[in-house]
Order: sequence, then structure tokens, then C-alpha cells
Amino acid sequence: MAQLWGGRFTKETDQLVYNFNASITFDQKFYKQDIEGSIAHVTMLGKQGILTNEEAQDIIKTLKEIQSEVENGTLEISSEYEDIHSFVEATLIDRLGDTGKKLHTGRSRNDQVALDMRLYTRQEVMATDALLEELLNVLLRIMEENTETIMPGFTHLQKAQPITLAHHMGAYFEMFKRDRQRLRDIFERMNYCPLGSGALAGTTYPLDRDYTAELMGFYGPTLNSMDGVSDRDYLIEFLSALSTIMMHLSRFSEEVIIWNSNEYQFVEIDDAYSTGSSIMPQKKNPDIAELVRGKTGRVYGALVSLLTTMKGIPLAYNKDMQEDKELSFDAMDTAKGCIALFTGMLDTMKFNQEVMRNSSKNGFTNATDAADYLVNHGVPFRDAHGIVGQIVLYCIDKNMAIDDMSLEELKAISPVFEEDIYDAISMETCVNKRLTIGAPGKEAMEKVIALEKEYLAKN
Ligand code: ARG
Repeated sequence: MAQLWGGRFTKETDQLVYNFNASITFDQKFYKQDIEGSIAHVTMLGKQGILTNEEAQDIIKTLKEIQSEVENGTLEISSEYEDIHSFVEATLIDRLGDTGKKLHTGRSRNDQVALDMRLYTRQEVMATDALLEELLNVLLRIMEENTETIMPGFTHLQKAQPITLAHHMGAYFEMFKRDRQRLRDIFERMNYCPLGSGALAGTTYPLDRDYTAELMGFYGPTLNSMDGVSDRDYLIEFLSALSTIMMHLSRFSEEVIIWNSNEYQFVEIDDAYSTGSSIMPQKKNPDIAELVRGKTGRVYGALVSLLTTMKGIPLAYNKDMQEDKELSFDAMDTAKGCIALFTGMLDTMKFNQEVMRNSSKNGFTNATDAADYLVNHGVPFRDAHGIVGQIVLYCIDKNMAIDDMSLEELKAISPVFEEDIYDAISMETCVNKRLTIGAPGKEAMEKVIALEKEYLAKN
């Protein structure tokens, strides 16, 4: 046991209590941020004359040494210390004696941990954004290559109308683009520095909070010291954004799993991204997609856990808040891993264009267009809907597609049909006549692809 406090205690902490209270096993994850924060703090203390320049320089030099020794493995973060803050400070004091004892002037672990967590989360927000950008690039490539790859679009998992693979991928492009916008919003709101809030009521030292904030790339200091030490909104927002990302990945995974099934065979997952069965030699399983779908619950769990932890905490800092770390770290790592793996899987996946196209031909995906044909020839839509319903029944009975019916057969049901019906209900026509913005028609799709490209070039 090694702790920074103890002056007012007459007994040793019970070992179980110590273990229960300690956080070093998990908060060592942000040792870099802890040192970065201390360097900024000491730089400011020196500038303000609270420490001498020499003292500040000595502390900074030693903090940097500690960081590089931890990085190259010569200094081990020992779990003998209560938390990462204690480890860094105690190591500094070991090396610098009295000068080291001045590091914590005008600071509390409350504002220190608030800062560390924010710095760490800020870095994770950016890392997640970079991974999503890669995913969008892969999606855009698939879109560009498949504006003519016709496939069935589904509602209720029933074939509905023909679309293209570009159009289907475009839907996910929009989702992940919004996810990136959410991350950007979070960054904008969270990028304020809590350091200098002290334990809860600021400090009597003449700290320059604007300066420390600037040193660490924040837009400025937080404006209320009680809120500064006890705000975890940014983390809840990030976990919420990660949950939404996972929800999108999970839906996408579900589709990949269906598309990869023996019945569909729309896609083939690359060998490098699938796994076999220990008993059934023929198996090639979509484990990555299944795991991404499965891990979604874990990320939701972190969000609900933190919301629940925070709901009963009076101002300002309470130890409950230490619970903000483990599940959040797990959620951040999980989401990043899932995005990266999914991107790799998607990038190497083969789309069976012929199978997709053939699949769109059966299932009456052109029934709406047959009805529209009648409407264009003066039949009221409700009547046209009824006529095509009859045609579909006839085709089901004869096990054929609408396109396979002869003109005589069609005319027997409605005399309005002429030879041009075949062209009007071909898959190409069905897709390429849909030209409203956001629709699958090739020209409409190409306009959207150009806009998405522009977006990616700027973001
Ligand atoms: N390990 C603590 C946490 O994560 C650091 C802050 C400790 N502050 C205190 N007053 N005990 O929240």
C-alpha cells in the first residue's frame, strides 16, 4: 500500500478496503494524459511564479523521464500505488525530493482525474472518427463500382423493389457519416479544460487557467469548478455515439450474415475474415459479423451503467465516479476493434453480382412499376393495383415472373397492356427511372456519390 494521504489517520487501511478503493489496475491506461496534464500544470505554476522556473523545469524533465521509462518498459507501473496519479507523483518525489512535492500545488485529484479522463476520451473520439473515415472510403469505393449492380431491396425482409448495391451501401454511408458528425459535436462541446477546478471550489493560488487550457489544446477553461470536477456528460455522449455506431454495425452485420447464407449467396466473405467448424468440414462461418453484432450489447451496457452511476450523485466529486472508467475503456476498445474489423471484412468481401441480379428478377419486385405503367395509360392507381395483384396471383400459380407472361396473357387481364410493357418493367428501367435525389437510379446515384466524395475530401 502506498498512498498520498494519511496525515490525519491513526490506523492502516484494511487491505480489502485498499483493494476495493484502488484504481491503478485500470487508470494506468491514461498515464500519458496524467503526465501531460502535470506538465501543463507545472508549466503554468512556473509562469505564474508559484514555483520557481528551475523547480518547474526540474519537475518537467523528470516527468518526461518517467513517461519514457514507462514507455520503454524500464519503469513498471506498480499496483502498490492507489492510482496512477499517486504513482506518478510518488515516483517524482522519489527522484526529486522536496521539489517533487510541489507538483500538486493548487490541484486536487478531483480536477486531475477529470482532466485525464477528458484528455483520454478526446483522443478516443478522434481515433474513432479516423476509423469511421476509413470505413466510409471503403463504402464509397463499393458504391462507385456498383451503380449498375441491381439487387432486390427489402421491406419486412421480403423482396420489395429493385435497387442497386451502390444504393444499399449508400444507406450505410449516410449512417456512418452522421456518426462522424455526432463525434464532431461531442468534441466541440467537451473541449474545455477542468484543470484548476481544484477539489470543487477552485483555489486561492493565482492559477492561469486560460494558459493551461491552451497548452493542452482546449478551447478554454470550464466555467464552474463544481461542474468541472463532476461533469461526465461528454463521456455519456461519447458512449451514446458509440452505441449508435455499434447499432449501425450490428444492422450491417446482420445483413452480411443473411447475404452470406447458403440461401442468399449474395456475398462471399474472404477466407481471412471467416472461420471454420471443428466438426462440419463444409462450414465457412461469418464469425466476425456475428461477434460485431454480439458485442453491441456490451457497448450499450457501458452507456446504461454510466447513466445509472451518475443519476444519484450530489455535487461535486464522489467516489462513485471512479466507476466511469472500466466499462468506458472497454466500450471504446470494443467499438474501435469492431469498426476496424468490419472495414477489413467489407473491403475484402466479394459481391456476387449475378446472384443479386437474378434474385431481384423473381419476387415481383417490378409489380409497382407494372401498376405505374397502367396509371400512365389512364387507369386509376387503385384499379391498377388490383389488376397487378391479379397478375401476381396468376404468375404464382404458373410459377413465372411478370416478364415471362405473353402479351395475350397480359391483355386477358387488362387490355391496356401493349408491347412496351416489357421495357417498362425490366429491372434496368425500374431502377434507372427512379431519379429523385436519394433514389437508386444511376444518374441520381452518381450525383450523390459526387456529394459524398466532396464530403470525404473536406472531412
Ligand atoms: N481514482 C479516482 C477516480 O477515478 C481519482 C480521484 C480521487 N479523488 C478523491 N477525492 N478520492 O475518480
